[in-house]
Amino acid sequence: MNKLSKFCHELSNHTDIKPEIYLSPATGYRARAEFGFGNNLYTMIDDNQKIYMEKSSIPHPIIERLMPNLLAKINHSELMQGKLFQINFRTSGTKVLATLIYHKPLQEDWILAAKDIQDSLGNLSIIGRSKKQKILIGEEDLEVICNYANSSFKILQNDLVFFQPNFYLYSLMISFITKQLENPRDLLELYCGCGGFTLPLASKFNKVFATENNRHSIRLLKESIKLNNLYNIESARLSDNETASALANERPFRRLKNINMQSYEFSHILVDPPRAGLSDETIALSKQFKNMIYISCNPETFLRDLVAVERKIESIGIFDQFANTQHIEVIALLK
Ligand SMILES: C[S@@+](CC[C@H](N)C(=O)[O-])C[C@H]1O[C@@H](n2cnc3c(N)ncnc32)[C@H](O)[C@@H]1O
Repeated sequence: MNKLSKFCHELSNHTDIKPEIYLSPATGYRARAEFGFGNNLYTMIDDNQKIYMEKSSIPHPIIERLMPNLLAKINHSELMQGKLFQINFRTSGTKVLATLIYHKPLQEDWILAAKDIQDSLGNLSIIGRSKKQKILIGEEDLEVICNYANSSFKILQNDLVFFQPNFYLYSLMISFITKQLENPRDLLELYCGCGGFTLPLASKFNKVFATENNRHSIRLLKESIKLNNLYNIESARLSDNETASALANERPFRRLKNINMQSYEFSHILVDPPRAGLSDETIALSKQFKNMIYISCNPETFLRDLVAVERKIESIGIFDQFANTQHIEVIALLK
């Protein structure tokens, strides 16, 4: 049984509603990709075996095109290849951020060599990382243009934060959520990252209050809110449990000092947790909301939480974000 049939079968124990299925092309879809570096090639592990390659067709074409050119430049220089063990790529679609990670301190001569490579390849920002060291050769933040409906948003991300990996499915995920919203007033969003859903969804709600525990994500979100001149989003660096505690007025948070929580009339809660799923506190919090939107990268914890939140599925979409792998992404609207 393939992964989609397997999930549909498990889902049928919880609902009669049939999921909408959204597929992705099997190549060119990954807007971020991480490789090891060994024997002067990129490496990755597949089926417990190390594979060596000069390029891969799975990442976005702009990354695929860059891979062999960057590899040639790295291999041309002892300084660039020595003690290099990982190369991570991200793209906005027009520009690439490449993070080179080393087992050695990076000195002035490395900086000059990296700058030469960056200048010669174009549309590339290099970041060098080593223990307790981060060296920016180009710009750290990437501006992604998110086109959704007739609007366009600029969303900042960098190599320290989560961002939606599949650009083919990203706008379909936003549309799937917005087409099912009933009587939206204010939105509480947990695990908001750097705002991949926050910004586009804000146009559908009066106000949004978004929380997340990664300080880099919250910094980027606040900058993107300004960049897009949006005035109906407030955000705070709070973990899921701190958000639950703040909403229950259990204790004051200095990080909320300029935010009037009483002014919100929440109609929806949106959660997009990591693979571990929701904490008990978040499950308890969710029960105060009429409508819940659950985005999950782990069907197992999604089905576990579905029982715990005691809700019915109104609609559900399966997004095959990583073709030819066992992963699926699920978005459910729960009443
Ligand atoms: C799957 S990502 C979703 C991010 C965002 N919704 C997006 O699509 O770009 C999960 C996010 O939860 C954050 N996170 C992890 N554990 C958390 C916690 N205990 N409390 C709050 N946020 C957490 C991570 O930093 C990450 O940004």
